[in-house]
Amino acid sequence: MDTSSSFLSCALFIYISLFLSFTSAEDPTVTYHFDISYITASPLGVPQQVIAINGKFPGPTINSTTNNNVVVNVRNKLDEDLLLTWAGVQQKRSSWQDGVLGTTCPIPPKWNWTYNFQVKDQIGSYFYFPSLNFQRASGGFGGFIINPRSVIPIPFDNPAGDITILIGDWYIRNHTALRHTLDAGHDLGMPDGVLINGKGPYRYNDTLVPDKIDHETINVEPGKTYRIRVSNVGVSTSLNFRIQNHNLLLAETEGSYTVQQNYTSLDIHVGQTYSFLVTMDQNASSDYYIVASARFVNESTWQRVTGVGVLHYSNSKGKASGPLPQPPQDQFDNTFSMNQARSIRWNVSASGARPNPQGSFRYGSINVTEVYILKNKAPVTINGKRRATLSGISFVNPTTPIRLADEFKVKGAYKLDFPTEPLTGPSRMETSVINGTYRGFMEVILQNNETKMHSYHVDGYAFFVVGMGYGEWTNDSRGQYNKWDGIARATTQVYPGAWTAVLISLDNVGIWNLRTENLDSWYLGQETYIRIVNPEKNNKTELPIPDNALFCGALSRMQKPQDISSGLKGHGSMVVVLSLSLIMAILSGFVV
Ligand SMILES: *[C@@H]1O[C@H](CO)[C@@H](O)[C@H](O)[C@H]1NC(C)=O
Ligand SMILES: *[C@@H]1O[C@H](CO)[C@@H](O)[C@H](O)[C@H]1NC(C)=O
Ligand SMILES: *[C@@H]1O[C@H](CO)[C@@H](O)[C@H](O)[C@H]1NC(C)=O
Ligand SMILES: *[C@@H]1O[C@H](CO)[C@@H](O)[C@H](O)[C@H]1NC(C)=O
Ligand SMILES: *[C@@H]1O[C@H](CO)[C@@H](O)[C@H](O)[C@H]1NC(C)=O
Ligand SMILES: *[C@@H]1O[C@H](CO)[C@@H](O)[C@H](O)[C@H]1NC(C)=O
Ligand SMILES: *[C@@H]1O[C@H](CO)[C@@H](O)[C@H](O)[C@H]1NC(C)=O
Ligand SMILES: *[C@@H]1O[C@H](CO)[C@@H](O)[C@H](O)[C@H]1NC(C)=O
Ligand SMILES: *[C@@H]1O[C@H](CO)[C@@H](O)[C@H](O)[C@H]1NC(C)=O
Ligand SMILES: *[C@@H]1O[C@H](CO)[C@@H](O)[C@H](O)[C@H]1NC(C)=O
Ligand SMILES: *[C@@H]1O[C@H](CO)[C@@H](O)[C@H](O)[C@H]1NC(C)=O
Ligand SMILES: *[C@@H]1O[C@H](CO)[C@@H](O)[C@H](O)[C@H]1NC(C)=O
Repeated sequence: MDTSSSFLSCALFIYISLFLSFTSAEDPTVTYHFDISYITASPLGVPQQVIAINGKFPGPTINSTTNNNVVVNVRNKLDEDLLLTWAGVQQKRSSWQDGVLGTTCPIPPKWNWTYNFQVKDQIGSYFYFPSLNFQRASGGFGGFIINPRSVIPIPFDNPAGDITILIGDWYIRNHTALRHTLDAGHDLGMPDGVLINGKGPYRYNDTLVPDKIDHETINVEPGKTYRIRVSNVGVSTSLNFRIQNHNLLLAETEGSYTVQQNYTSLDIHVGQTYSFLVTMDQNASSDYYIVASARFVNESTWQRVTGVGVLHYSNSKGKASGPLPQPPQDQFDNTFSMNQARSIRWNVSASGARPNPQGSFRYGSINVTEVYILKNKAPVTINGKRRATLSGISFVNPTTPIRLADEFKVKGAYKLDFPTEPLTGPSRMETSVINGTYRGFMEVILQNNETKMHSYHVDGYAFFVVGMGYGEWTNDSRGQYNKWDGIARATTQVYPGAWTAVLISLDNVGIWNLRTENLDSWYLGQETYIRIVNPEKNNKTELPIPDNALFCGALSRMQKPQDISSGLKGHGSMVVVLSLSLIMAILSGFVV
């Protein structure tokens, strides 16, 4: 390596590397710098605009440990507003950091903003993504790991490696174009492919996969066991994940250790994350396919929409070839998939983030204090616009974020009147929010009245998935709830024409987003917020407004302009200084 390139990579390393600093005697801080910009990439063979972090698509994996403070300095180099959200990562006592429009003002183009939150009492696998303007469809996402502290046992042997795999459906149209399609009242239509870690399919079939597409390869050693964390970061397609000839031993689901069971394939719905332990126990006669294929669709029309990567043993004797491993043969019947979802159980005796067993929080014996039945339906037209609804309400983002409006007593920013049961009259557009009771125990029934799959997510919390069933939920449905080892997670699927019931312990003060993870329905208004306020004012249950809070809407006057040039100080001016001194040196060389 010559000096100039080593200087460059050294500078780059300093710039993008993660610094482990111990700001206080208490909890360590992990710091990241995210430069978010457009790059041109061709994951499906066609050049397109993609959102990259530090020039990479997907972005870096955030690697933290229970109780760490996580600092992410985000520089917005897009041509539109930006917010990052940390799905499933519970920013304890601080919805200020949540990165959704109901709680935070957006980061304008060319500005930077520093997130600073603590991942308290949590372990597990998650991902982050840009929450505004349909940007997730163009990238900007990455993995988010919270490791247990070294003193806390994990319910399996230390794996030989830790691999993050992000799968998701993908369109060749960029997020601006997709947004225009939705704004014009149309469906997005079938995606163009499924990406694995930002890459297109391996060419397993010359007819189906064009030439010159870069695919993902996962390199492994024979005989070893790896932890593979898989997230569905896509727009709206449920994916079946499988690795040819290998069992997937399910170990963790969005922060909860599961009863360990082998699956030959698992359905991963939009927004969900699973950890598998995969033992490289095959004879390496060839490489093996890693497949993420669309679920509940007609295979003969959707076969070009299949993600294919390669699992490569160091002693592999050749390329993967032949047909892909079969998906479950039940494309128009959800029974198998729902039974598979029900088979995912909490390991009640494993330690979570703390040494005591996960099951020591006996959710089944806690009395429910409030019940919400949230029902979606097929998109409707409201005021001439095609909108998506939850319980008859299509959410309108407030101009002044709810949390800020509360802080500065801005009147009329939102209504605290979200109905406990679906409205029966015509649907309406409103900024209507759920009034949660601090320390309450809320039962939420998610009723999917659409003919497509949905997954629902709540920020700031993990909830217990206690039941799923077909048809309309009734009081009697409670009889089939799992009151003992239902999994705690942040994103659950709700099958078409079916319900899913979850229980949430409302112990995290703040304004927390409840939404469908299906990006198109979310964009069209299928979301709300749960407002949880501690009636007893103190600084213990919620952190004060951060010093760098952004202001917008009715509070725009309070926003100081950001010196955009100083935002570039990090490296821009350093480069200028360096090149100036270089010129000076050259000039002085000439003079002497
Ligand atoms: C996004 O797509 C639209 C429509 O194809 C195109 O006009 C626009 O230039 C694209 N944006 C960028 C930044 O590439
Ligand atoms: C995360 O960081 C720890 C050190 O703090 C390291 O041991 C571990 O391998 C890292 N994990 C990943 C997936 O990079
Ligand atoms: C913007 O980034 C600079 C350089 O990294 C940093 O000093 C500054 O605090 C950041 N500003 C905000 C508002 O986060
Ligand atoms: C549950 O966790 C315990 C404690 O780590 C472990 O010994 C046990 O094997 C796990 N059980 C299953 C079924 O995974
Ligand atoms: C490739 O896919 C096409 C279209 O489905 C199919 O007709 C053909 O048999 C496949 N080729 C191989 C080698 O499997
Ligand atoms: C899972 O499958 C592997 C083989 O791939 C086997 O060794 C292991 O015992 C199985 N574990 C369980 C819990 O079934
Ligand atoms: C390796 O496994 C493949 C498929 O399981 C089998 O066909 C082949 O005979 C095996 N080769 C050796 C050398 O064991
Ligand atoms: C799947 O799609 C193909 C091609 O459009 C069609 O011929 C076939 O009938 C469809 N299968 C089912 C079960 O709908
Ligand atoms: C739950 O409610 C029942 C009946 O109203 C009551 O007997 C019981 O003590 C309550 N349990 C708790 C933990 O509050
Ligand atoms: C919200 O709930 C609290 C109890 O948790 C209640 O005191 C308050 O009146 C409710 N507010 C509204 C607007 O319904
Ligand atoms: C939607 O709700 C209506 C009215 O309750 C019901 O008749 C219909 O079967 C539901 N459809 C689905 C797909 O759930
Ligand atoms: C909370 O902290 C702020 C600033 O640190 C302080 O001004 C305020 O008095 C505190 N409030 C309570 C109730 O302790």
